[in-house]
Amino acid sequence: MTVEISETRDIAACHAVRRAVFVVEQGIALADELDGRDEEATHLLATDKGIPVGTARLLEQGATGKIGRVAVLPSHRGQGLGRALVEAAVAVLASRPHLTQAKLGAQTHAIGFYESLGFTAVGDIYEDAGVPHRDMVRAL
Ligand code: COA
Repeated sequence: MTVEISETRDIAACHAVRRAVFVVEQGIALADELDGRDEEATHLLATDKGIPVGTARLLEQGATGKIGRVAVLPSHRGQGLGRALVEAAVAVLASRPHLTQAKLGAQTHAIGFYESLGFTAVGDIYEDAGVPHRDMVRAL
């Protein structure tokens, strides 16, 4: 697998991955997936021979960088790409001196995945778009 990860302005490509994973695979409503914050966000796109296969989105809130919409197509899972996407997202946030922590809302099945990337679960489990989530944080 020769996958490249880079920042992109090709939001349509990110949407295509997110739609396949969150809407088609997980059954999340398209209206929940498209929350209107994509224009202000930084987007990461993973491509395999030019074809979009993974994505993640970065937002800011004060001194906190928020990582979200982390998705890898089923065909490319289990090969370290999700890990590489989150590490790239953390690196982008860490390069912004005004940010001190990274935060994300993890689907509860993915908590172990994010723990292996240095995140710690905080607070209670809550429901978002019909899916149980828990917030997780990591210092930058
Ligand atoms: N729960 C616990 N551990 C997990 C996991 C999960 N759901 N998914 C992967 N892992 C582990 C892997 O075993 C691997 O461990 P290792 O490094 O010790 O072998 C590590 O996390 C990294 O796995 P990786 O191959 O980089 O992950 P991936 O490319 O398969 O992507 C997701 C992981 C979660 C991004 C991918 O499964 C996905 O897109 N899922 C659907 C969308 C989703 O749930 N996104 C998260 C929203 S919060």
